[in-house]
Amino acid sequence: MRNEGFLKYDLHTHTSLCGGRDTHEQMVREAIKRGMHSIGFSEHSRISVLPNRGMRQEDEDFYRKEIERLRIVYGDQIRIFRGIEQDYYSDLPPLGYDYVIGSVHYLRVDGILCPVTGTAEEIRAIVKKHFGGDVFAFLRLYYQTVVDLPRKTACDVIGHFDLIANINAQEPFFRESDRFYLGYVFKALDALIEQDVIFEVNTKALVDPCRRMPNPSLSVLQYLSAASAKIMLSSDAASSDELMRGFTQAAHLCKTLGFGSAAIYTENGWGRVRR
Ligand SMILES: [Fe+2]
Repeated sequence: MRNEGFLKYDLHTHTSLCGGRDTHEQMVREAIKRGMHSIGFSEHSRISVLPNRGMRQEDEDFYRKEIERLRIVYGDQIRIFRGIEQDYYSDLPPLGYDYVIGSVHYLRVDGILCPVTGTAEEIRAIVKKHFGGDVFAFLRLYYQTVVDLPRKTACDVIGHFDLIANINAQEPFFRESDRFYLGYVFKALDALIEQDVIFEVNTKALVDPCRRMPNPSLSVLQYLSAASAKIMLSSDAASSDELMRGFTQAAHLCKTLGFGSAAIYTENGWGRVRR
């Protein structure tokens, strides 16, 4: 089986600029070694109330200059793109980037930002303190926020659409087949599909032995396939060895679910590649 078209592009990656391990150049060199057509970086946007999160102004300046330099050095071997992973609660608009991945990592409740992932203990504490112990209130607010990503972040791509489902990796907080949960999910999907956004198939949780499921998970991917929605594979790599992690398995899954093409970013903007 060949899924080659799906396996040469990785547009959701992070570096040592924003909490990752390797530099842009190390990532680019590894991507070339692996025969990749394109690599795109998506450093985290700034959230002013969380000063340790995301790029400072000097980081953004470095990021721009470094990608320009790498394009000169390696541009004949690989396409290099400068994207951003724009958090819903970032203050600054994502200007001047090749593409924008919009993501919800936090929910604002009771005036503070609560992370939507964490240890089981942390999630239990958040749900108890801010949602009166009602995990479905937590889930509902998450999807209400996700559905607003295109307006708030002007994103091209919805990052890890059902990231909140990963709280089930450590212990089951809810059943992902629950009709109320799926109601929130499908309502959000309908609204986003209508806006013609791209959904990334993020393989980070797929290679997590506790989860073994991409974001979005199977039922969401089935819904997206039936709606002929756009997808792209991405690794959310934080080091060069994580580039395209789980892509073979994810491409196989997408093929089985009926996806015949994936979105890719090129010098001319967004396009599609057949698998
Ligand atoms: Fe993210």
